Amino acid sequence: MPELSPASPRPRHIAIIMDGNGRWAAKHGLERSAGHQAGADAVIRTLECCNQYAIPYLTLYAFSTENWKRSPKEVAFLMNLLVDFLDQQAAKLAEYQIRLRVIGDLERLPRPARLCLQQQITSTAANAKGNLTLALSYGSRHEITRAAQIVARLAKAGALDPEALDEDAFAGYLQTAGLPDPDLIIRTGGEQRLSNFLLWQASYAEIWFTETFWPDFAEPQFRQALDDFAHRQRRFGGI
Ligand code: IPE
Ligand code: IPE
Ligand code: MG
Repeated sequence: MPELSPASPRPRHIAIIMDGNGRWAAKHGLERSAGHQAGADAVIRTLECCNQYAIPYLTLYAFSTENWKRSPKEVAFLMNLLVDFLDQQAAKLAEYQIRLRVIGDLERLPRPARLCLQQQITSTAANAKGNLTLALSYGSRHEITRAAQIVARLAKAGALDPEALDEDAFAGYLQTAGLPDPDLIIRTGGEQRLSNFLLWQASYAEIWFTETFWPDFAEPQFRQALDDFAHRQRRFGGI
């Protein structure tokens, strides 16, 4: 494995599609919920890796708009897990000085999850070392459509000149406004697709796939993704 020297290019923003919890559980003869529970531990390990490798922005795809199609039992388990996770990790967010943000259609989340998120978003707002963004009830097409609606309403009201709208201005209407675009997108669990994640923001992200199921994701895989990233040539359309 190539060595990661301090001078190696590092991603400033890593976004992760945390996939494979259900298959991990099946492999171990467990219920899907046990896979999600084990996945929460992988989130903690990943936060520690970002702290250790000085990666300031981490975005985690935790629940997609399409995941509402799952059984009510699985959805309820995931929402409760989110609340437990936030309660248990509040101290870590403070210790690592991590600011929490959320992207997605939050109105669809159950009230306890919304309240808990709101409380942690507020209490971490002044933290400036790390940035954790949770994508919850998130779908990129929904986000882009919503941004288009805002822009259309402003234009209709005469508050925005359509000719003056450029890419940067449009990005300002996305929920990720103010966050840098991801440099590296990791997908665990073996599938090689984006599943409606950060389609606009990922335009020039490097993408790294691993067969490892999310609950098994740990420092060696994180490190390998960083090593591979360091050896990618990012040309951004140039030569
Ligand atoms: C990812 O794991 C977690 C969520 C989508 C919430 P999955 O639950 O999709 O696991 P697999 O893909 O069925 O193994
Ligand atoms: C993507 O995983 C969404 C999250 C990781 C939250 P899925 O398991 O929902 O994606 P598909 O269905 O395989 O595309
Ligand atoms: Mg999956």
